[in-house]
Order: sequence, then structure tokens, then C-alpha cells
Amino acid sequence: MRLSKRLAALGNGVFSRTDRSKLAYQQGTGDQPLIDLSLGSSDLRPPAEVLKSMAVAIDEPSSSAYCLEAGTAPFRRAVADWCRQRFGVSVDPDRHVQLLVGSQEGTAHLPLAVLDPGDPALHLDPCYPSHTGGLHLAGASLLSLPLRSDRNWQPDFEALSSGTWDQLKLFVFGYPHNPTARVGSQELLDSVMDRGVRHGLVIAHDNPYVDLSLEREAPVLLRSPGWSDWGIEFFSLSKGWCLGGFRLAFAVGAEPLIQALRQVKSVVDFNQSLALQQGAIHALRHCAAWPRTLHPVYRERRDRVLSVLRSDGWSIPTPEMALYLWLPLPERLRQQGLNDETLATRILQSSGVALTPGSGFGPAGRDWLRMALVRPVDELEQAAHRLLDALR
Ligand SMILES: Cc1ncc(COP(=O)(O)O)c(C=O)c1O
Repeated sequence: MRLSKRLAALGNGVFSRTDRSKLAYQQGTGDQPLIDLSLGSSDLRPPAEVLKSMAVAIDEPSSSAYCLEAGTAPFRRAVADWCRQRFGVSVDPDRHVQLLVGSQEGTAHLPLAVLDPGDPALHLDPCYPSHTGGLHLAGASLLSLPLRSDRNWQPDFEALSSGTWDQLKLFVFGYPHNPTARVGSQELLDSVMDRGVRHGLVIAHDNPYVDLSLEREAPVLLRSPGWSDWGIEFFSLSKGWCLGGFRLAFAVGAEPLIQALRQVKSVVDFNQSLALQQGAIHALRHCAAWPRTLHPVYRERRDRVLSVLRSDGWSIPTPEMALYLWLPLPERLRQQGLNDETLATRILQSSGVALTPGSGFGPAGRDWLRMALVRPVDELEQAAHRLLDALR
């Protein structure tokens, strides 16, 4: 069968090969139980009261009907109130807010609303795969801004000429940053937004970890002057409220962008079920501070795993946000010709610990491995010991 050419650009070989290796391991090649730390999918429970409000709403007949726009109005109002209380930013619930079925969905669909085939668009390398995936779906001409460890994974905007900035139509990025676990800064976002305004380009900021910065307040595009003209920001209930499987997220941004995204989505989905929205409304209105209760949990996981992994002299940067460790390949193994993917496969085969090869997030992630801290701390510690044994 002849399928579309764009599929070739979409396929992420690294992730599919990692999945196949995990499957092979589970089907019997390995002798220790799999500890899967390759996905940023939380093992922690969402707030019980949020689940309860969903459960109550699920009995309402309207929850099993298609949810049209009017149904999302209470959700949009909850988002607007959350933006005011959380960030001190005033947004119009009807003009500036859009419900999403995950921020992944939003970042993947936005380029269809902004770009024509061939339009130049910028992304970070490494980055979350839906950022590049969405650009490929829209037929964009992709330009990457490589991040480097010696710049603490902060982008160098001067690397692009003013003429290049002028040509760009969209820049998709996000801090706190997956996979490098750097939080970024408000100055960084302000300078990006300033470029958006000066060069007439849409700035899309993916911010699902806004409440999970462990060191300092995470940056927010909505605090950067100019967002209501050229900016759009994506938030999610997946990470802060541990609701990943429920697919609840939202975009807040410039009115034309929100309207355009809504138009694209109108041929794709009928919004999320009212019962799930009810839970999200409850989370935003009554459990806005709840994500902070996760900080001690992720801090303990981070510190205990780091103390095991560093005990052998492995130099690993301390992550600034929850959920991930970003591990450099030990020099000794690099010199033996191992790369991130071959090393991740070897670690999996010999220890049953699944990590993500950094190159899955882009070429600049080569030589790095991502570990998601998504198991209880004792299991993570066990994984760290197994990992060290495998490296020896
Ligand atoms: C940067 C980034 N964006 C989006 C997502 C997906 O979020 P959601 O569950 O809201 O689609 C993730 C998940 O790991 C992520 O790291």
C-alpha cells in the first residue's frame, strides 16, 4: 500500500526500537523484572477529590454526550481564574483559552493552524517529539536550534541571523525542558517573546511542568509582554496532577491563535468528556497548590538515585525539575564506541532497566540517556544499583 510521504518524517526509529527491546526483554530474554523508566508517566495517584468529582459527574447523561463548545465554557472560566490566581495574569476565557486532549495534541495541531507547507519553523534540539512531529505534519521546513551542555542547555539565539528570525513563522519550545531537566528563566522567555513581536513570528511555549520546578519558580510565557499578540502557551494536568491518562490540558494565547487552533480541532475532536472536565475544573479551582506536594517525593527520588549513581564517580548534573534525570554517557564507554542507543539496549538486556536514548529527542541528545523517576523510591534505588552493575 502506498502511504503518505509525511509518515517517513514522523517515525521516530529510536523510540520504536526501544519499545521493541522492552517487549523482547519482557518476553523472556531477561532474568530480572523490568523496571521501566523510559516514559514520563507518573506512578503517583492524582488528588482523590479530583477523581471523586469525575466519578460523580460521570453519572450525568451529558458526560457521555459529545461535548460542544458551550460545554467547555465552565472549564475555560476555571482556567482564566487559575491564570489570575497562579500567575497574576488576566485572560479572557472565551477569547484566550482552549481545552485540549493533552498538551501533546495541542502542540502537534498548532502548526496546522499557523503554517503553510514549506514555511520555516524553529524548534529546540533536543525537544519533546510532538514539537517536531507537529511541524512535520504541517509540512513545515524545520530549522533546529541545538542546545549544548556547556551552555547549561540554554539556547543561543544569537546563533540565528536577524534575517533568519524574520523568515520564521513559528517557534515551538518549552522550559522547564524535557529531556534536559533544566528550568530556564523568565528572562529567557521574555527575550523569545520579544523576538516574536519584533520579527512577527508565533511563539508556542509548551509548559506542562510549570508546577514541577524543584529549584525556583518556573518561567511562564503569559508573564512575558507580547503574549496576547504573538504567543500561545500549553499547560497540562498530566504531570502536576498525575492525570496523564485522562488527557486534560489547555492552551492560553493570542486570540487569533486560539481561534485557529479551535478551527483545526473542530474537524478532529469534540473536546474532552464533561466528566473529565469536571475533574480538571476541581483541580484548578480547589487543588491548585497540590502539585507542590509532589516536590518532596521527586526530590527524595532524585537525591537517592543520584547518590547511588554518583558513588562510582559518575558526574551527573542535578536536575532542576521533577520527573527526569539526564545522564551523560560515561566517557570510558563512549571511547569504547558505545552510543546512547547501544548503551540503553545493553543496560536493558543486562539489568532490566529501561531508559530512553537521548537521541530520541534529537541529534543533540546523542551521548545522553533519560531516566524518568516514575517508580517508588526503593525500586528506583534498586534500578540505580542494577544500572551501575551493568555499566561496570
Ligand atoms: C514537554 C512535554 N510536552 C507535552 C507532554 C505531554 O503532555 P500531555 O500528557 O498533556 O499530552 C510531555 C510529556 O512527557 C512533555 O514532556
